[in-house]
Amino acid sequence: MNTVTKMLTASGLALALIAGPALASEHKQENAEDYAFSFEGPFGKYDKAQLKRGWKVFYEVCYSCHSLKYIRFRNLTEPGGPGFSKDEIKKFIKENEIVVDAGYNEDGEPATRPARLSDAIPNPYKSEAQAKASNNNAVPPDLSLIVKAREGWYYPWYSSPIIKLFKGNGGAEYVRSFVSGFEDAPDGEEKEGLNYNPYFKGHWTAMPPPLSGDDVEYSDGAKPTLEQEATDVAAFLTWASQPKLEERKRVGLMTMLFLGVFALMMYAVKRALWAGVKH
Ligand code: HEC
Repeated sequence: MNTVTKMLTASGLALALIAGPALASEHKQENAEDYAFSFEGPFGKYDKAQLKRGWKVFYEVCYSCHSLKYIRFRNLTEPGGPGFSKDEIKKFIKENEIVVDAGYNEDGEPATRPARLSDAIPNPYKSEAQAKASNNNAVPPDLSLIVKAREGWYYPWYSSPIIKLFKGNGGAEYVRSFVSGFEDAPDGEEKEGLNYNPYFKGHWTAMPPPLSGDDVEYSDGAKPTLEQEATDVAAFLTWASQPKLEERKRVGLMTMLFLGVFALMMYAVKRALWAGVKH
């Protein structure tokens, strides 16, 4: 490197150091708001009533745009989940006339048949192109794993596995804040087809505010406020991404308990074996 290149590199570096943070702060992503979900911590469990409400919000609001392809109808009836009965889900499929693709009929036309418990929840759009065309060129992501994909977004820089052990992975907090956090841009700026959301990376998202409160009717007496709906749907999507969370925590606790007892036993064995040896 000759002197001129060195000087250029140095000044470029200095500029990057000064301007970098300034540019970044313009689009600084807000940390999601902390929330004490029932499934957090080593003893955490899903609140079944909340999962049921969250499913309702998902189906009646989010499902007009988002798919949930890794969840099958029967999963909604399995232990560790919302705990619907099989009959309830069969009735639900019938009442909502949910159908899935069934190849072609004898005239060569695309055919459908009523969904079964073993079917995955069908995509609300026929193709990605259709999804794009209806959403200002942005494809609404599948929500099956979104809570895992956005893990840690609530945590500030000092996030650690210990914090996560007690406060969950942060993905549910992100979804909760994101769906309820739309607001006017601070400087009154507007962008066509985009909406301002301080929790979204880059702040401008193609998703319109999906909830405003009173979007669904809850049958368990809970009030469908914006906050309640956002919390319920975030809990439901956490279950969708981690349907075995309760079982996993149970097995983990038993394992820790076993290892504790085993360690004590090994200590007793060590003492017995070395009892006669002078040291
Ligand atoms: C009118 C269609 C529409 C509805 C209704 C809708 N969304 Fe979205 N959603 C989108 C689009 C489009 C995107 C992609 C946004 C982008 O990339 O700018 C998106 C993105 C998302 C994301 C990902 C954000 C990220 O960090 O990348 C989440 C989470 C989400 N939606 C959750 C929900 C939930 C929960 C509901 C129901 C309460 C819902 N959406 C309802 C269209 C919709």
